[in-house]
Amino acid sequence: MRSSKRFLAGLTLAALLFSVVGDAFAADVKANKKRGQVYFRMVCTACHVDLTGAAIPPAGRTMAEWRAYLDADKHDASGKTNPSARYYISHAYRESIKDHNKAAKKFLKLPDEQLYADIYLFAVNGAKDSDTPATCN
Ligand code: HEC
Repeated sequence: MRSSKRFLAGLTLAALLFSVVGDAFAADVKANKKRGQVYFRMVCTACHVDLTGAAIPPAGRTMAEWRAYLDADKHDASGKTNPSARYYISHAYRESIKDHNKAAKKFLKLPDEQLYADIYLFAVNGAKDSDTPATCN
């Protein structure tokens, strides 16, 4: 799965070119929307509500906006938190919060690419112009 950087770079390029949804994003990674939802809620949303008082519901953006946001991997323009959204999905971040965050602990061993695909699918599938807008965070 992580065998070669060139392989991953190729997948990323393919994703950018075809704007595919999470489950097709990495050919060997089957995205799990439910897992994406749990992590999104318990890690992403929890921190947002703590720090900003506002959630980031998937239905707050269109499918295209979520794809553009996640593909660009620019997290927080204010500079207050890590500039990479992928950082908050990474094993290193999960490790750092696992003692007080159940989702980080539960998914600690999951490969980064798998969890990224899960979150990608949850966000895009819950976008406001999707068939299943998710106002729950
Ligand atoms: C450590 C706390 C924290 C974590 C964890 C976190 N975020 Fe953020 N995020 C923020 C802050 C703070 C901002 C800046 C928001 C602002 O200035 O209003 C931000 C900005 C954003 C924005 C841009 C919001 C906008 O309106 O422009 C999005 C989208 C976002 N985060 C998604 C995510 C996702 C997806 C995850 C999980 C993979 C995540 N964040 C994890 C704190 C966090």
